[in-house]
Amino acid sequence: MTRIPVWMDCDTGTDDAVAIMLAHKLEEIDLLGISTVCGNTVQDNSFLNTHRINELMGTAYPVYRGAEKPLCIPLVTAEYVHGVNGLGDVELPLPKNMEVRQESAWDALYACAKEHPHELRLVPTGPLTNIAIAFTKYPDLPGLLHSITLMGGSAGPGNITPAAEFNIFADPQAADIVFRCGAPIVMCGLDVTTQAYFEMEDLDEMAATGSKAAVFVKAILMHSYKVLAKYGVKGFCMHDSCPVMYLAHPELFAGEEAGVAVETRGTITNGKTVTDLYSDKQFPFTNALVILKVDREKFIRILKSAILSI
Ligand code: BDR
Ligand code: CA
Repeated sequence: MTRIPVWMDCDTGTDDAVAIMLAHKLEEIDLLGISTVCGNTVQDNSFLNTHRINELMGTAYPVYRGAEKPLCIPLVTAEYVHGVNGLGDVELPLPKNMEVRQESAWDALYACAKEHPHELRLVPTGPLTNIAIAFTKYPDLPGLLHSITLMGGSAGPGNITPAAEFNIFADPQAADIVFRCGAPIVMCGLDVTTQAYFEMEDLDEMAATGSKAAVFVKAILMHSYKVLAKYGVKGFCMHDSCPVMYLAHPELFAGEEAGVAVETRGTITNGKTVTDLYSDKQFPFTNALVILKVDREKFIRILKSAILSI
């Protein structure tokens, strides 16, 4: 089987951690590197947490530090969902021989894209700051990529505000650069990611096996349970696993091509991915495949088996 070359850019983050585990275990995917960005948590946590996931999985995926702050707005984090340490305040050791690479996220991503011209699938699961910096520094980078399959945005309502989804809201200027970059984009926004959820029974069942990874996943997600329960949400959305799963199993998903523009100046709607799916007025461009549906049962079955096989 020819494996799909993938680069992840994460703000690790509870569901980013699960997405990395999934990318590691899916045989269709060849994970070449992971860059880290501030978002769910500060860069220091995001970077070290990614190394911690390497330790948990017994892997040594190269990890590259990226942005400490968004392009031009103050940093927004989501400690209330992901905990102060980004992993639901669960302790996880760092690798004993942690390799700290000096190359920046954007330089490492560019080098990898040049090694795999038109083949590399970029999977951002946090704010798009690193990617926008990379595209600004290397204007030929979008043309070198196969595609960008990202978790972010929403054609419908938001989560961090009524209009905007967190990853786009946290750095709208960066998202604007990415959505205009010309590379094919697959947008896995809240429209689909809110259908891709674990129920408590799923977490209990996995943890009951005694699998170290499953016990860890349940523990990190329990932090967000209190927050979600307050809003009456019954499941644990695995937002960031959606783009990873899409690359290996596109048959589980359905979507529509659309024009997507990022609101960067609105006072109420800042960070909204304005999508022309449901309007009479259409944008003069079509820049994204907007994913709208997933077969939840199959998605969860594959995700569980990936976690349990670590
Ligand atoms: C996104 O924001 C973060 O909370 C998650 O990791 C995901 O990337 C969902 O809005
Ligand atoms: Ca994330």
